[in-house]
Amino acid sequence: MTEHDREVIACGYVGLTAPDLSAWRSFGTEGLGLQVAGDAAGGEDALLLRMDERAWRIAVLPGPGGLAFSGWEVRDAPALERLAERLAKAGADPRADDALAARRGVAELLCCMDPSGNQLEFFHGARISSAAFVSPTGASFVTSAAGPGDLGFGHIVISYAEIGSALEFFFGTLGFRHSDIIMLAGDPWHFAHVNPRHHSLALGPGPRSSALEHIMLEVTDLDVVGRSFDYFTDSPFALSTTIGKHTNDLMVSFYVKAPGGFEVEYGCHGRLIDDATWTTAMYDSASFWGHRNVG
Ligand code: FE2
Repeated sequence: MTEHDREVIACGYVGLTAPDLSAWRSFGTEGLGLQVAGDAAGGEDALLLRMDERAWRIAVLPGPGGLAFSGWEVRDAPALERLAERLAKAGADPRADDALAARRGVAELLCCMDPSGNQLEFFHGARISSAAFVSPTGASFVTSAAGPGDLGFGHIVISYAEIGSALEFFFGTLGFRHSDIIMLAGDPWHFAHVNPRHHSLALGPGPRSSALEHIMLEVTDLDVVGRSFDYFTDSPFALSTTIGKHTNDLMVSFYVKAPGGFEVEYGCHGRLIDDATWTTAMYDSASFWGHRNVG
């Protein structure tokens, strides 16, 4: 696979489900510092949240609490066309969906399922809001490095009962690059990057067919992480861990349970990868210190 074949350049957005959108609204704004999108990206019954110049980055839809879809960004229309051909050749049955593109507020969109039936959306042309992003907690989110929005919204961690086919799909068909492996309870968890962010996706073996373990949001300032930790400590929302530092991406973060299911990791100081010099490593622990379970 050549560099030209690696069309996916960022995890641009994520769709989540939650049984109580008003709880998620407080969780996301007061706790995480996200801004409710003033102009919804197209009439869906969803809570849309902003973290930068994009019209939205996180959609929360009514549902049980989990992953509804993930939006993977490509550079332009030719890249999406190349990706469609490769996905079709791999038997992934990609479908262009103009109505969904309009709902998501993107120029063009392609939809398919991963081997465990998680909805993947590949797109280009994300809408930029004319209104400035204003965080209710003063948070500034890390979504850019060399260019606007090039790091994506953060990362997603998913467990797969059939990990082999998921690894083949993401690393083989889509061309995600290995960042490293962490051995957890004897099982390898694979961390994958599609841009300098250490990982946009991590996947490992799970007891269920497929489950969202957590999403991660990165801010620029340790004080914002600390104040958010204090907010959740005093709030009805349940913290999962103390603050700690990860071994592989060096993120200083904590985990909190989102209303309805899965966890949100909130941190700062994550490392960036330079593919020219990167060497894949293996770790026997997820954290240098902290991240003690409190849930
Ligand atoms: Fe994480």
